[in-house]
Amino acid sequence: MTQEFHRIKRLPPYVFAEVNALKSKARAAGEDIIDFGMGNPDQPPPQHVIDKLAETLADPRAHRYSTSRGIPGLRKALCAYYQRRFGVDLDPEREAIVTLGSKEGLANLAQAITSPGDIILAPNPSYPIHAFGFIIAGAAIRSIPVGPEFDFMEQLERAMRHSVPKPSALVLNYPSNPTAEVVDLEFYSTVVDFCRENGIYVISDLAYAEVYFEGEPPPSILQVPGAKDIAVEFTSLSKTYSMPGWRIGFCAGNPDLIAALARVKSYLDYGAFTPIQVAATAALNGPQECIDEMRARYRSRRDVLVNGLEAAGWPIPSPPATMFCWAPLPPALREMGSLEFSKLLLEEAQVAVAPGIGFGEYGEGFVRLGLVENEHRTRQAVRNIKAFLKSLGVNDQGAKVRNIAS
Ligand SMILES: Cc1ncc(COP(=O)(O)O)c(C=O)c1O
Repeated sequence: MTQEFHRIKRLPPYVFAEVNALKSKARAAGEDIIDFGMGNPDQPPPQHVIDKLAETLADPRAHRYSTSRGIPGLRKALCAYYQRRFGVDLDPEREAIVTLGSKEGLANLAQAITSPGDIILAPNPSYPIHAFGFIIAGAAIRSIPVGPEFDFMEQLERAMRHSVPKPSALVLNYPSNPTAEVVDLEFYSTVVDFCRENGIYVISDLAYAEVYFEGEPPPSILQVPGAKDIAVEFTSLSKTYSMPGWRIGFCAGNPDLIAALARVKSYLDYGAFTPIQVAATAALNGPQECIDEMRARYRSRRDVLVNGLEAAGWPIPSPPATMFCWAPLPPALREMGSLEFSKLLLEEAQVAVAPGIGFGEYGEGFVRLGLVENEHRTRQAVRNIKAFLKSLGVNDQGAKVRNIAS
């Protein structure tokens, strides 16, 4: 029997799968692929967090079902973080919830608040769950084009004017995956005013709160007075403490949205494994030097990559935050598009990147490079890319100096 499932029809085949398949093939053939494809932190979490996990594992009481909303100590630790980092007061009972990674929280919040046919405003390009969480839940997405060439408020006002029915929520993500853009508190203040006037919820994803290299630390939307009336914000331990496999994230802010998410989750899960939640509490409450080390590591990788690519004939912007470079294709190769470029780079330079088109139509013309290879391997990647560009006759302005045969 073949049946077209309603939801599955709305999920296009994963664009990254094509590059991943080539990557697996090359690796199976013994090639050493330098992999900037995924934002998957490569370092271990701090030792004291691992020790706390091991210690809690030894407690026979720690193996029962946990609490779907998160253990109270972890919710309190999140609220203490918000207080010391942003000066924001949160009630751990009503305004904070633990999720199985922020991705799960985003998807289940979408389930909780979406009626079929609702319109959701989501950035494009975006981290896929920002749009697809809502698509799975039955919403229609109106894309807000984002990136250096767009004025966000202009695009938001336009989307609002031309959407029927009126959108019910807006998704924000700064520092942004994949574009690495950052915003200031004034930006959030303008967005909160606009969304309050128009009666729409704001869902902010602050996964990269602590991954920044320049200027002021990224603000939280919850710092805007009254933001809690309409906004929630997702944070995560995945990048801050290099704990992506642990699956611990948070949602904080508007109590109605938190209650809706808590209700859906109460039907779906029993919370993260208690020892993981206890160790996550130790991460938030314990020494924070590991965060400086994480920043220093990504910063030096970023500098090696950006400076190296510039010298190799492919100048790209240096990201002020996140663990990603958002790189316009070299002008001479722009016409082939980001997917073909990524495949060619993999085959000819043994370097894997994520094609921009995988993040949405406005991601075309770019590739994303995750800073997840060490400096030594990043230098090797730069050498490979330089040789690759030279073989195609691309000069140091990224322009074509002779016809490319294929
Ligand atoms: C913007 C953004 N939000 C959320 C996530 C998912 O984080 P988590 O591991 O907490 O689910 C990622 C992961 O790359 C991300 O880039």
